[in-house]
Amino acid sequence: MAVITNIEDLRVLAKKRVPRMFYDYADSGSWTESTYRANESDFQSIKLRQRILHNMENRSTATTMIGQKTAMPLAIAPTGLTGMQHADGEILAARAARDFGIPFTLSTMSICSIEDVQKGTDGHPFWFQLYVMKDRDFIERLIDRAKAANCSALVLTLDLQILGQRHKDLKNGLSAPPKLTIANMIDIATKPRWALGMLGTPRRQFGNIVGHVKGVSDMSKLSEWTASQFDPALDWSDVEWVKKRWGGKLILKGIQDVEDAKLAVSSGADAIIVSNHGGRQLDGAESSIRSLPAIVEAVGKQIEVHMDGGVRSGQDILKARALGAQGCYIGRAFLYGLGAMGGEGVSKVLEILHKELDLTMAFCGHTNIENVDKNILLPGTYPK
Ligand code: FNR
Repeated sequence: MAVITNIEDLRVLAKKRVPRMFYDYADSGSWTESTYRANESDFQSIKLRQRILHNMENRSTATTMIGQKTAMPLAIAPTGLTGMQHADGEILAARAARDFGIPFTLSTMSICSIEDVQKGTDGHPFWFQLYVMKDRDFIERLIDRAKAANCSALVLTLDLQILGQRHKDLKNGLSAPPKLTIANMIDIATKPRWALGMLGTPRRQFGNIVGHVKGVSDMSKLSEWTASQFDPALDWSDVEWVKKRWGGKLILKGIQDVEDAKLAVSSGADAIIVSNHGGRQLDGAESSIRSLPAIVEAVGKQIEVHMDGGVRSGQDILKARALGAQGCYIGRAFLYGLGAMGGEGVSKVLEILHKELDLTMAFCGHTNIENVDKNILLPGTYPK
């Protein structure tokens, strides 16, 4: 490919380089995908105000998220199976985030384990995302492992008690590693870069689970175990239990409703993420960027509010910040970079987003991200 200038270029390249079942796993939403699409398109309808002839020198996008310094108001979101987009994907993405100076969040459902990432980043602190599964002994051990690895925040995901249905995953027979059917072998044969990387790593299954749960040692047992483990009976008392066991910074992920945001404040968490899981759970839900302002209005003075869903440019990051998010997260954007070019691709994503954010902030009349607010948006184009 010629010069890569934006996230879309990386998406196109990832589609060419990553086996179909894993590319589709990333680039899909649940059912009709209407929420997945709205997450992206609702950013486009918000318009920025151009300001001129102010001093644009000495700009800064640096800020904090949960009191921790970040080079821009952005973190990497937890995504499952990241190590199947590219060999050792979680380690490569965590290194890119560390080198850029933004937080990286490792998913419970990662391929590289907590310990792999800790080792691969020379002990640099990262955030760990937890799903509370039925096997609470396993969850206790997982929390303890995250503490032992020096994780500096726990991101507790609350919008996946049951699984939304993604048609493409069912049709592709998604599994890690992929089952060697004739169709898969033909597909993989056309992706030699990916295949060679995979041959070079032992990490091809859920690293936080395999070998850590009694009786779960191979793929068939793993799928059965995982499918049976999401807990439909979760409630706010489980959040309290996790908070006590963890004892550190706690971020609650998957809040879309003002009433739930208020309950999250009562739970004593440090931050909430306004998120609909990238449109992968409740299809037909409001986009994240449209849900954000009402939640900020209701609880923004009591708790730090973050958002994710549809962030594909620095302009999107700026709009989220203007609407009250202290920071936002990227899921698919970093996965495209990873699938396209490994760790270098994730660094490229961060460079692109940072440049877009920095220049757009200046065009809107600001040199410091801390001073950006709703005034940079054109009235009537943004949700209240
Ligand atoms: C996710 N997401 C997610 N969230 C989570 O808490 N734990 C997880 O394991 C996963 N896994 C996952 C896999 C893939 C492939 C995607 C795309 C997403 C949701 C993720 O953290 C985040 O909420 C969305 O990705 C944000 O939307 P964008 O940036 O992808 O549009």
